[in-house]
This record gives sequence, C-alpha cells and structure tokens, in this order.
Amino acid sequence: MTRIGWYGLGSMGLAMATNLQRHLATKNAMNLIYSNRTMARGDPLKTLGATPETSFAKLVGQCGIIFTMVSNDSVLQQLITSAIGSGHSLRDKIFVDCSTVHPETVGLTVSKLREQQASFLAAPVFGGNPIAVDGKLVFAIAGPKKASEVVKPLIQDVMGRKVIDCGEDATKSSLLKIAGNIVTVNMMEAVGEAQVFAERTGLGTGPMEELISEAFGAVAGGYSKRLTTGAYAPPLESRPGFGVSLAIKDANHAFAMAKEHNVELPGLKVAHENMVAAREYAGECLDSSSMYGVLRQKAGMTFWNEKSRKE
Ligand SMILES: NC(=O)c1ccc[n+]([C@@H]2O[C@H](COP(=O)([O-])OP(=O)(O)OC[C@H]3O[C@@H](n4cnc5c(N)ncnc54)[C@H](OP(=O)(O)O)[C@@H]3O)[C@@H](O)[C@H]2O)c1
Repeated sequence: MTRIGWYGLGSMGLAMATNLQRHLATKNAMNLIYSNRTMARGDPLKTLGATPETSFAKLVGQCGIIFTMVSNDSVLQQLITSAIGSGHSLRDKIFVDCSTVHPETVGLTVSKLREQQASFLAAPVFGGNPIAVDGKLVFAIAGPKKASEVVKPLIQDVMGRKVIDCGEDATKSSLLKIAGNIVTVNMMEAVGEAQVFAERTGLGTGPMEELISEAFGAVAGGYSKRLTTGAYAPPLESRPGFGVSLAIKDANHAFAMAKEHNVELPGLKVAHENMVAAREYAGECLDSSSMYGVLRQKAGMTFWNEKSRKE
C-alpha cells in the first residue's frame, strides 16, 4: 500500500487533508503523514490519527503520493527543490500539487521530476474553504494518465465533487485554474459594486443578497455573504478565506499570459486595482472580496462595514 503525504495546511489545505485522512481511516489504509511550516495547524489532523513530520524531505522519503497545497509558485518550487535535494530516490513517486500556480511553474516542475523518474500532476481546485470542508471542491487534473488514475479515487467524493480531466499535459489544468479565476475575481467585483449601489440607493444589502443568491446562484450569493458578514476584512491575525494576495497573484498570472497572447482583460484590471488599493489601505489580512472596501470608500463610505473589523 502506498503511504500518502500532505504538505500545506492553510485555509484550503487543512480542510482537504482532513477529508483525505477521514477517507483513509474508513478504508483502514495507512494514515496520512502531514507537514506544514506552522506545524500546530495540523493538530486537528493529528487528533484524527494522521502523523506529523516536520521535515518535508523526510515526508517525501516515506510516501509514494505527495500532495502539496501552498500559497504560490516559489513555495512549490522550494518544496520540489528540497525533495530532489533530499537524497531519497523519487523514482515512481507521484507529486500532486493543488495550489494555483503559473503553467510555466508546472512545466518546470514536470521536467525536474521527470529527471528523477517521478510524476507530477497539477490538480488545482475551484471553491473556497466552506466547500473544501464539505469535500465538494471541483478539481482540474492533468498529467500522466497512469498517475491520474491512481490519484483520482483519493479526490472524487473524498475532497471533491467533480474532477475535470485536462489530459496528459500538466500545464493545462493550471491554465484552466488561471482562466477560472478571471471569472471569480470579476464576479467578486460585480457583487461588491451591486452591494455598494444597494446600500447607497437605500435599497439595502438584504434584498440585494437575496436576489444575488436566487438569481445568480450559490457562488455569487457566497461572495455577497463575505461582504455582509464582514468576512472581507476579518479580525487581524485570523486567516482570510481566500487571501487578497493570493487573488492578486492569480490575476498577475492571468495578465502575464494574456499579454503573451494579445488578450485584454479590462474587467480583471479594475478588480485587480481595487484589490491592490484595499491591501495598501488595510494590509494583508483581507479576503479577495475586499475590493468591496475600496468601492465603499469611492462611494463616500468607510472601508469597514458594521460586521468587518474596524482598522
Ligand atoms: N482560499 C481559497 O478560496 C482558494 C481556492 C482555490 C485555490 N486556492 C489556492 O490554493 C492555494 C492555497 O490557498 P489557501 O487559501 O489555503 O492559502 P493559505 O491559507 O494562505 O495557506 C498557504 C499555505 O502555504 C504555506 N506557506 C506559505 N508560505 C510558505 C513558505 N514560505 N514556506 C512554506 N510554506 C508556506 C502556509 O503555511 P503556514 O500555515 O505556516 O502559513 C500554508 O500551509 C493557493 O495557491 C491559492 O491561490 C485558494
């Protein structure tokens, strides 16, 4: 039996690893080995029977399938470098990265791991923390077919409700993720604009939220709730649902690729500017929907609403 490892226990990773560990327990399979920069984040996983390992290189040595779910391209690259430099043979190991990274990063990682006779699957996800907790994420997966077939049963109905197979070229799922986030960020901007409009015209955010949820679906409704519950600007030191810097990174990846292919992304540009302005005003501890705070300021209100933090 292959031992499974997990690195990255942030807003998404902890929820995903928890569902995976629960699944392994029901199958009487070997428990997950987990690691994270902040090891204490894994305490709930340990309670479920998973095994902590402070060193990623040692985790890799013990596991045949290694999932990663980290902030960005450079963290993924550091992990792969440490796995390769660990001295453990990586032959026949399968690395599965669920983070949102640039297709170029995926291509580089594929080549580096291929030299070690290991496989790399890019398996980014769609859906936020509550959806990850429910095990209902949408995954896009791409990479060697043999490896995909091994990994899919660990995803389908465990961490995700749907796996979109993007074929054998691992860069394709990462491309789909970047494209999907053009929709996500534009939708957050649209919901933010509508809610500021509703508040300023006296319509009120309640009826607006009801309409958004009913007419535009649960995803748009969820974005509205991030505003009306104040989650766009959560308490300092808490972990935002989808950190503003992560969404800015994703938008920057989209701009870089759009430029290469002569595509304009004017809506994304507006949302990006507002996210950057939000971060300049209120710092890192913001959700990606925090362009709403800037839209509020532009309409003569405070960045904060009655449910958000206040400074
Ligand atoms: N949140 C969402 O709604 C969402 C949805 C889909 C996709 N994504 C993507 O999924 C990925 C993870 O998102 P998330 O929301 O879970 O992010 P997060 O809460 O910020 O967690 C990031 C993870 O990366 C680790 N990390 C950060 N910098 C590191 C470093 N220098 N060295 C080692 N580890 C480091 C963090 O460790 P610590 O715990 O020690 O900080 C944590 O485990 C991102 O690529 C994001 O774009 C997010």
